[in-house]
Amino acid sequence: MNKKIFLSRRIPDAGIRLLKDSGFDLDMHQQDEPLPPEALREKVRDVQGLICLLDDTIDAALINAAPKLEVISNMAVGYNNIDTGYAKSRGIAVCNTPGILTQSTAELAWALLFAISRRIPEADTFMREGRFSGWKPLLMLGGDISGQTLGVIGTGRIGTAFALMSKGFNMRVLYSGKPNPELDKELHAENVDLETLIRESDFISLHIPLRKENHHLIGKKEFTLMKPTAYLINTARGPVVDEAELVRVLKAGRIAGAALDVYENEPALTPGLTELDNVVLAPHIGSATVPVRNRLAVMAVDNCLKILRGESCENRIV
Ligand code: DGY
Repeated sequence: MNKKIFLSRRIPDAGIRLLKDSGFDLDMHQQDEPLPPEALREKVRDVQGLICLLDDTIDAALINAAPKLEVISNMAVGYNNIDTGYAKSRGIAVCNTPGILTQSTAELAWALLFAISRRIPEADTFMREGRFSGWKPLLMLGGDISGQTLGVIGTGRIGTAFALMSKGFNMRVLYSGKPNPELDKELHAENVDLETLIRESDFISLHIPLRKENHHLIGKKEFTLMKPTAYLINTARGPVVDEAELVRVLKAGRIAGAALDVYENEPALTPGLTELDNVVLAPHIGSATVPVRNRLAVMAVDNCLKILRGESCENRIV
């Protein structure tokens, strides 16, 4: 009998075409919204391949509901939505889509950095509301970027690309975690402990995966350490930041601002967040360019097909 794949969401056509040409049987949830967990469990009952998204929870209950499952292919580089340990214990391969979204996510982090420090969304709203009555010395003052200190937490692929993009701005670059010879050589970056980075940075940008040890890495204590003129940028995963605490410090003007692409309880936002001017909010669009999303879809499908065909797959995590 032919193997069967379930695709949990509407994805770019390039991926769908590859799936349709694969010769495997196919079932698709052709909607933009995720299926509720029980409906997803029902869909995977007799499939060998599952192509899923970062907001599908692939836990033990889901895996147990899919006795024939051979591969879980996540169309994302982050895979905190999957119980990889349990999948491994059941002999199920898990794949992700690394590399493709490195530049686009780093670019979005810069876009957010500019947006919050130069108050671009606020300025745009101001203009659309017809409130511009002429140049004023005190109108929409923001923070400097050039010459400031950039703190990069997590210097994997995306964090490194983000840091390297600072080259034109003559910034002092601090990073925490493992030594990164490329950043040391290219930027004379300083590898410092987390506390020093938080204390000394004018911009702190998060580029770490969501793991237990990173949950609320930025919380009450860290906000207290930040300069009152500093900005926080998060394009990594929401739960790395204590969002309720962030709302409190933004409300109190304890830090200058924050720009977020990811949220602790995505898609829900912590009450109060949308009422603040010193925050810029984006709807998890780090990888949202047409070419990147096409390539992500193709890679996620290709990973799944390779495993089902018994071929090796370089993007296999377990
Ligand atoms: C990922 O792939 O993990 C990103 O968050 C998607 O934008």
